[in-house]
Amino acid sequence: MCGIIGYTGILNAGQIIIDGLMSLEYRGYDSAGFAYFPDNNTDKIEVIKSTGKVCNLENKIHENIKENHPLCGIGHTRWATHGGVSETNSHPHSSGKVTLIHNGIIENYQELANKMAAKSKYPVSQTDTEIAAMVIDSYYNGDPYEAIKNACNELDGSYAFCIMFSDIPGCIFSIRKNSPLVGAVCDEGSFVASDVVAVIDYTKEYFILPEMTIAKLTKDSFEICDFDGNEIIPEIMHINWDIAAAKKGGYDHFMLKEIHEQPEALLKTIAPRIVNNLPDFSNDGVDDSLFTGLSRIVIVACGTAMHAGMLGKIMIEKYTRIPVSVDIASEFRYADPILDENTLVIAISQSGETADTLAAIKLAKNANARTLAVVNVKGSAIARESEYVLYTHAGPEISVASTKAYTVQLAIMYLIAYRMALVNKLADESVISLKISGLLDSMDKMKKMLEMDEELYLITSKIKKADNIFYLGRGIDYAIACEGSLKLKEISYIHSEAYAAGELKHGTISLIVDNVPVIAFATQDNVYQKVISNVVEVRSRGAYVILVTKAGKHVDTTLCDHHIVLPRMDEEYTPFCTAVVLQYLAYYTAIRKDLNVDQPRNLAKSVTVE
Ligand code: M6R
Repeated sequence: MCGIIGYTGILNAGQIIIDGLMSLEYRGYDSAGFAYFPDNNTDKIEVIKSTGKVCNLENKIHENIKENHPLCGIGHTRWATHGGVSETNSHPHSSGKVTLIHNGIIENYQELANKMAAKSKYPVSQTDTEIAAMVIDSYYNGDPYEAIKNACNELDGSYAFCIMFSDIPGCIFSIRKNSPLVGAVCDEGSFVASDVVAVIDYTKEYFILPEMTIAKLTKDSFEICDFDGNEIIPEIMHINWDIAAAKKGGYDHFMLKEIHEQPEALLKTIAPRIVNNLPDFSNDGVDDSLFTGLSRIVIVACGTAMHAGMLGKIMIEKYTRIPVSVDIASEFRYADPILDENTLVIAISQSGETADTLAAIKLAKNANARTLAVVNVKGSAIARESEYVLYTHAGPEISVASTKAYTVQLAIMYLIAYRMALVNKLADESVISLKISGLLDSMDKMKKMLEMDEELYLITSKIKKADNIFYLGRGIDYAIACEGSLKLKEISYIHSEAYAAGELKHGTISLIVDNVPVIAFATQDNVYQKVISNVVEVRSRGAYVILVTKAGKHVDTTLCDHHIVLPRMDEEYTPFCTAVVLQYLAYYTAIRKDLNVDQPRNLAKSVTVE
């Protein structure tokens, strides 16, 4: 949460920071700010801040800086944690010679604030970040390294900082702990940012700033050292997706583009893991021994990733008969979970940064459980903390609402289930080979679903007027219903709930009255009739029913207002098609309500706070 970027070089820092912040806006968008050295030779730092989107800041920068464009600056786009949305609370924050931006949370800020007040230094904002600036400044006697080191020894919590000292013009210092920060150098200067999307216009080579090291950026150098002053050489990484992947590419919204990218993202995720039409993780370095001798599997994740885990549980249990539990990471980490060396903990995360999922995987490691991360962002914290990693290859997902990252997570869970079945000799190669063909085939089915946009758009004319909506399903379809409900709430602001279809009559059916929309998924043969019975129950209470089934089912047309028909397919793969249904329904409902689809209120893409 919060996006930060620093640049020093030979180009217009104002423009670079604005462009970078726009690409980082998915991380927070309630206010933004920019600090810069107006002239590389003066002992002065100027700050410009604005509430609202980065474009507001851009306007202010253009009003304030008409000539002599700065060559060094830092910028921040905020998702408020401490203190409301105001210019005063937006970053950068300054104290004495120190001006900084921050992504993370300083947990002991109150204690530190009391200490600062004892020294007659009072904050002007309500933020934890300003306290960090005060602490660094209190240690600053001309040696930035000593100041940063001493201050960080006092700060608890998570942070990625870009720091400027007014008497060191043209220079940016950075440090991070449990918050992401990448560095990059090119002919035009040095960069530091929360995510590579902010630097990809300039270079495809980057590195992850090692934790608790101090980086010093100048226009022609990027030096990193540890707290003892030893030089650190980071591992250079290469961005393996094209710059076009981080742009809208002709679509109105990133979400729509990302929905359409799913078949390709699936292929990129699955194809490298198929050898002789069987799942194979040897190129990922995932040893088969990880999948043997297990008494239990625990999947930990948050939000959409957790919904992918729900499907993972169904698949793994079906193929291995090993008990799997799915835990919300924020609950798991404080639940004193039962873990041992025969437990495999799988963490699923698009960003690889989610604070609770990261804490869950650390806890699992400390309890000697085996750990496997399923993440999208290369080199992210969760990937680095886990014993093994399977990367999803969705490419950058910019829209806050997760779409393609979800379906590639599903695909990996299917592959894990199939590989485990093979390794443990629970299924023949011939059976799994057929499954792989089915999985690959579902991408074509998904393409067909993408053509149903108009049909689904029409349905949303009714949904957009609703105050409450219910999603129903059983088994695989219940997991899908949960994702459908989250997606709709997240971007359309309509209250919705997902129910296991059989559970409704244990209380919630009292909420079904005339015209309440109910979206029922009935794609699984073993419970098809059961779901239909549940549909009859809500229908007879006046519900406006949207029923989703596979082709080939004879459906009584009086049962529903809309019947969405999936292509003819094996029921195991319907999630790849029902996902498109729920994504389109959420997307077009938000469009009809004229809402900001890609940046819904109160949210941020990476949830790096608890
Ligand atoms: O980056 P992660 O996959 O760990 O993020 C987990 C959730 O915050 C995320 O899936 C969230 O629920 C989505 N915005 C939903 O669309």
